[in-house]
Amino acid sequence: MGQCRTRRELHAGERRCREFELLKSTLEENRSRMDAILGAVRAVLWERNWGEGGASSRLVFMSPNIKSMTGYPAERWLENQRFWLEIMHPDDRERVEKRVPGIIAAGGGKHQYRWLTADARELRIETHFSVLRGPDGRPRGLRGISLDVTAQRQAEDDLRRHEEKLRQSQKLESLGRLAGGIAHDFNNILTAIHSSAHFLSEELAPGDARRQDVDDIRAAAERAAAITRQLLAFSRRQPVAPKMLSVNGLLGAMELLLRRLIREDITFEFRLDPGLRPVRVDPTQMEQVIFNLAANARDAMPKGGTVHISTKNLALSQAEAHGNYSIPPGSYAVLSISDTGHGMDEPTLRYLFEPFFTTKEPGRGTGLGLSMVYGIIKQAEGFITVDSAPGRGTEFSIYLPHAAGRLDETSASKKALPRERGSETILFAEDNPQVRDATSRILRAHGYRVLEASRGDEALEAAAHHAGPIHLLLSDVIMPGFHGPELFERLSKLRPETKVLFVSGYPETPEGRHRDLRSRFPFLSKPYVADELLAKVADILRA
Ligand SMILES: Nc1ncnc2c1ncn2[C@@H]1O[C@H](COP(=O)(O)OP(=O)(O)O)[C@@H](O)[C@H]1O
Ligand SMILES: [Mg+2]
Repeated sequence: MGQCRTRRELHAGERRCREFELLKSTLEENRSRMDAILGAVRAVLWERNWGEGGASSRLVFMSPNIKSMTGYPAERWLENQRFWLEIMHPDDRERVEKRVPGIIAAGGGKHQYRWLTADARELRIETHFSVLRGPDGRPRGLRGISLDVTAQRQAEDDLRRHEEKLRQSQKLESLGRLAGGIAHDFNNILTAIHSSAHFLSEELAPGDARRQDVDDIRAAAERAAAITRQLLAFSRRQPVAPKMLSVNGLLGAMELLLRRLIREDITFEFRLDPGLRPVRVDPTQMEQVIFNLAANARDAMPKGGTVHISTKNLALSQAEAHGNYSIPPGSYAVLSISDTGHGMDEPTLRYLFEPFFTTKEPGRGTGLGLSMVYGIIKQAEGFITVDSAPGRGTEFSIYLPHAAGRLDETSASKKALPRERGSETILFAEDNPQVRDATSRILRAHGYRVLEASRGDEALEAAAHHAGPIHLLLSDVIMPGFHGPELFERLSKLRPETKVLFVSGYPETPEGRHRDLRSRFPFLSKPYVADELLAKVADILRA
């Protein structure tokens, strides 16, 4: 009240003075309330007046919090009438300027654009405004509110990207099931074709002209088997033998081979973190992954370039993982392979992991490389990301979860053993009659004595009725009755000296029931070739 008393001349009487004070504090309260609201929703209010005749408009009010939003104080806006257009993203300017008259004609509306802040950030702005009219109903200006919707738009974009990724991974999932089912059936057929061809060629005299045909059949069956194996890898049905290893060690051992794979006009650069922690993966599969990525990098650089291969440890926090959406938080060994090649456009990026998707001319690409890579990485419980744009090169990054434990010895890839004639007795359990016949014939032709069974229980019975020793159980993994591993367990109680070799084209069920079978027992994948089978059998019997 003290202040009011000094203005006694202006306001006659205590009553009016009190009214004035009340009005003033109400105004101040409203003002701070408005500031709080505008600050909370990240918005600014503004007003423009039309000059005489409405030809040009002047900004007459801009709320002060424009400074915290854009870094430019309100005065800048009031002084420079085109400031709002000057800090606008150049790609938006023309569109927005063109739309303004239409919105004014309609009496109001909204538009969206980007502002670039003083510290060069990009704000997504949504402005709503309406036309102000004078007492005569004639337009006299504009009043608007400009909202900073950057965070919302960002979240919407992230969500859209996330949904797209999810949709893609579901598609790959169902493609994988389809491919896996087909590949499984093909395995049995190919094993039969291959074995029969092998047998036929053994019967033909060395100079026989028909040998060429038989060799062609075998070669074709082998090519088909190679495709089948890639499909099995994609559908995560390939048997795995995970080992504790360092990706650096694997790369070191592969360096020479990699250099041979690529041409002379391509440079290799390794940046390996010496402190890289171990992971648990199948080394053979991991080699296939690296080879495929390197081969793709080479193909993308027909005029030469550089391939960078790097490794590092990465601890992904909850927040970072959340921002990324595709990789859960955790600690990873990251292997990146990048090239300076032609890169990929949007459609290629959408389909590149799908089996048989290729942009290469017929005969140059199968489109199975990356689908195999994808399946292998998923099976190893890892993640793969790709960063690419046309003309900008490509980077694939593989995230493998760190594993605890001692490193396993990685044996250098073993040479095929020379074939030997055997004499031992083999109990052979296999439910597919074609595979059973073909395999038995091969084994018998090479001196082995074979007891055949089409089911687990049948095999046990055969063992019980056989008087002599049984040196080896050769068994399919999945059979009617009980499965191979159970057969071996029961047989071991009767005949503890009998060794085992499991065979399967389907050992890795989607639930991973036989996950570690291959790392615990000798294992052969279908379709196998006669030499592989004989070498493996001889190897086990001799050990
Ligand atoms: N490093 C890369 N740079 C550019 N494009 C790539 C790269 N890697 C893969 N691609 C694209 O992905 C497609 C699929 O790759 P992939 O599954 O390995 O099959 P393929 O190599 O037989 O075509 C390729 O045809 C190519 O278009
Ligand atoms: Mg490829």
